[in-house]
Amino acid sequence: SALPNVSTVVGLPDFQFLAEGHMNLSSYTYYHSGAAGEWSYRNNLETFQRARLRPRVMKMVDDIESSLPTQILGYNFSLPLFISPCARAGYANETGELGLVRGAAAGNVLYMVTDFSSRTKEEISAAKAEGQILFQQLYIDPHNDTATLEQIREAETLGFKALILTVDSAADGNRHRALRFGVGSADSSYSSITWEKYNWMREQTSLPIVPKGIQTVEDAVIAVRNGAPAIFLSNHGARQLDGSPNGFEVALEIHEQAPWVFDSLEVYADGGVRYGADVVKLLALGVKAVGVGRPFMFSNIYGEAGVERAIEIIRREIAIDAANAGIADLKQINSSVLALNRYPFW
Ligand code: FNR
Repeated sequence: SALPNVSTVVGLPDFQFLAEGHMNLSSYTYYHSGAAGEWSYRNNLETFQRARLRPRVMKMVDDIESSLPTQILGYNFSLPLFISPCARAGYANETGELGLVRGAAAGNVLYMVTDFSSRTKEEISAAKAEGQILFQQLYIDPHNDTATLEQIREAETLGFKALILTVDSAADGNRHRALRFGVGSADSSYSSITWEKYNWMREQTSLPIVPKGIQTVEDAVIAVRNGAPAIFLSNHGARQLDGSPNGFEVALEIHEQAPWVFDSLEVYADGGVRYGADVVKLLALGVKAVGVGRPFMFSNIYGEAGVERAIEIIRREIAIDAANAGIADLKQINSSVLALNRYPFW
């Protein structure tokens, strides 16, 4: 159906409602679906509602926007927010990942390109704006080092600046909703990526390699001990394991049990982030940059213009929500803005 003018879109969730009426049902379902009963999918969204803010008032917050720009692995971006890697952008728009690359360039935010792209990596890399930084997400077959080496060399050749290694998918995601529409996968193969494999990969390249899918304080600590430059807390948008925690919950566990982790490496997190306040809550725990997946995929029904609009929306919301919470400088934010003693853990 015809889409309303993109400038009238008010919030990130709106893109999903518009996409539902616009995309064909199986493509929409592929984006939307989570694992099994989708309890973690709903938890990803609800976690932020349970984590209450403690807004301070009568603070001088006029300069909040100047604290939005953030470095990620040493590269400058306009926001502590990035586009998480999501497969098959071509389901929303024939320009596929190109809309995401260009929208990210217009908003000067980081885009982590999925390994399972609709467009080729060459096309995606060629669509970059001058000086635009892209990271490459990788799925590897731990039984085929030759193929892994080829993937690394391709990413280097095409100018990707870091590798995001997805480690949360030791087996298929059990996606009932997607399977019903023939867009789930059900091949029951197992491929565990161990820390040994991770360290082997790091010996093969000078690109930073960031494990994506860390879900416990134990694994965060092991990542530090292995010298990882960054970790990405994620349950894969609740598409792998129902019962897995949202990035906020993992960040909270680290905050409570090993807060020094946040000073030892860069921590990224995603899962269910839809509003500015969600971003503020993650930053308050020490997260350096926050990922958003589905909303950007749905915004791509408009192509580049939708992605740009989504960035504009979340940029404004981060600033006004931080200001209303009494944050003068996002770089100085800490957990005192969260009512953690009343957070319902279970
Ligand atoms: C994903 N995700 C994902 N992750 C990854 O490492 N490689 C991938 O190819 C994909 N593909 C993918 C497709 C779709 C349609 C979705 C929705 C998600 C997970 C993604 O990177 C991210 O962790 C979540 O999307 C974050 O949750 P939200 O923002 O979608 O709630």
